[in-house]
Amino acid sequence: MAHLVAPSLLSANFLNLEKDIGMLNQSEADWFHLDVMDGLFVPNISFGFAIIEKIRQATHKILDVHLMIVEPERYLERFKRAGADIISIHQEACKNPIEAIKTIKNLNAKAGIVINPATPVSTLSAVINHIDMVLLMSVNPGFGGQSFMPGTFGKIAEIRQMIKSRQLNVMVEVDGGIDLNNAPKLVQSGVDILVAGNTIFSSPDPVQTIHQLKTIC
Ligand code: DX5
Ligand code: ZN
Repeated sequence: MAHLVAPSLLSANFLNLEKDIGMLNQSEADWFHLDVMDGLFVPNISFGFAIIEKIRQATHKILDVHLMIVEPERYLERFKRAGADIISIHQEACKNPIEAIKTIKNLNAKAGIVINPATPVSTLSAVINHIDMVLLMSVNPGFGGQSFMPGTFGKIAEIRQMIKSRQLNVMVEVDGGIDLNNAPKLVQSGVDILVAGNTIFSSPDPVQTIHQLKTIC
């Protein structure tokens, strides 16, 4: 499939979210990437249900919810109810990821597993047959605007190999430090979804930047 672009609203203007959502609605952005942080799993706190519910009312695009929270299984139903279409949970945050994945699917959402830069791809072996997407962190989670970690490329190749050898239909999303310089190589490496926060929202022309991210190959 052609790759997708998922702007991360962490870098949006929270004083005027409606304006940024309107801009994204007019743009070629495919998904809205929503970063939920609890101050425990990551050293930052972002936003939760109330904001996601409001975003749900303001767009028809897919809401791709990235949960950076401990024990995500406690809140899966709430995030689905708030409007999530895709729910991704961290491998490192979950006692029983396969159980949690089943819960997400029973809620009629797509399920993703996220791995941090320090977490080896081999840890996906037991879960990859059950999921719709792997979300590969290319920065340590917690903050927007960090630099892309080049070790990500080797991990993408390993994940693609695992997907191919098992003949699975699993999407690969990469998140953190993506810009117009590294995006082409990411797409060539087989990434299906590019998340971008700072690159889009600090651009003087975000719609054009999204267009550029969409049309690289
Ligand atoms: C980091 C978040 C990312 C972040 C990406 O913890 O998961 O989604 O917002 O932001 P940029 O593209 O600015 O690195
Ligand atoms: Zn994210």
